[in-house]
Amino acid sequence: MIVHNGHSEGGSVATATGLLSAIADVGTDRTRGGFSRHVFDRAEHDLREWFVEQARRRGLDVHSDRNGNLWAWWGAPGPDAVVTGSHLDSVPGGGAFDGPLGVVSALAAVDSLRAKGFTPSRPFAIVVFAEEEGGRFGIPCLGSRLLSGAISPDVARRLTDADGVTFTEAARAAGVDPAFVGRDEEALGRIGRFVELHVEQGRGLVDMDAPVGVAESILAHGRWRFTFSGQGNHAGTTQIGDRTDPMLPASQTVLAARWAASGVDGGRATVGRIVPNPGGTNVIASSVDLWLDARAPNDRRARTIVERITAAAKQAANTEGCRVTVRQESYGDTVHFDADLRDEVSTVLGGVPALPTGAGHDAGILAAHVPTAMLFVRNPSGVSHAPAEHAEPDDCEAGVAALARVLEHFSA
Ligand code: GLV
Ligand code: MN
Ligand code: MN
Ligand code: MN
Repeated sequence: MIVHNGHSEGGSVATATGLLSAIADVGTDRTRGGFSRHVFDRAEHDLREWFVEQARRRGLDVHSDRNGNLWAWWGAPGPDAVVTGSHLDSVPGGGAFDGPLGVVSALAAVDSLRAKGFTPSRPFAIVVFAEEEGGRFGIPCLGSRLLSGAISPDVARRLTDADGVTFTEAARAAGVDPAFVGRDEEALGRIGRFVELHVEQGRGLVDMDAPVGVAESILAHGRWRFTFSGQGNHAGTTQIGDRTDPMLPASQTVLAARWAASGVDGGRATVGRIVPNPGGTNVIASSVDLWLDARAPNDRRARTIVERITAAAKQAANTEGCRVTVRQESYGDTVHFDADLRDEVSTVLGGVPALPTGAGHDAGILAAHVPTAMLFVRNPSGVSHAPAEHAEPDDCEAGVAALARVLEHFSA
């Protein structure tokens, strides 16, 4: 299909894949492959502008809330609103679908509802949440956590990115006044129901042979920062027996993560980021920062994994004569999505499978406050957080059709 700004030629109903192709050049990462789109950076700014333009073109009223989340209202804002949306930021070197698919599907769903002459009887909005991946400031779902009061504004203001830029500075530069970030009663109070569409990040729907499913639960998950300190020194002149090298306990912690998660039913533990300081090939590091991502079906199992890894890290640090500090940076217990809402969504769609996920979402944060549901779109390989992430165009359009039906049902 020929697309222009995401619209099919000669029609006013956009397709999800058409809209995705319109942003396929924004934030491409030539070093890592895929996309690197981080909150308040150039690429994310361009995506926000693109979204605002797309929303305005559809006659939606767009504004940013006090936490930098974008809201596009179809009709007047008001209480008991039906809200849909997702995020536009990515992990470093991420795929095209995680986040943007939910946003473009919302725009395409509005088009298809309009095309059939539907107008919502309730307030209706598309939301784009800021910093869902925590790719820049380390805390996932920062925009929805701030909005719902799940993180203190003081903690958020002090967060720093890898270049030492504070959240305060980055927000201010992006036009978000850091003095006013925090729980937003008005924005939260208006949400009657929230429905987030997302690419599936596993092969559940492939196994179930279904293009679309509804979310059942999200694993308990969090992030912990381990800092190992030793003695920086010369790689050539320091005898092996004289070293206090923090890379050793850090490496043993990576191995412990695999071992600890393997020993807990449904457990997952990942070290995806490790930074030796100062980071020279011929330098024994003086310290190493390592981030652990741990997940499990319930709080007890997630805590067990982290306790075991922490004990292994301490023992390894001790053996090498290093010190280690461990700090929890974020955590959320298991989310069980509202069962009545899930059943209602499934019924509206003629019966679709329900499935759990190991991935975090803004919907998981909002679920503690408002009735929340998620739709997943089949991902043929299950790969996500990587350039190979994919969803077939037909499945994306099945997702749009499902989302439109659900939104119509709730807003009629
Ligand atoms: C976000 O996608 C996460 O689950 O880490
Ligand atoms: Mn993600
Ligand atoms: Mn996502
Ligand atoms: Mn996520």
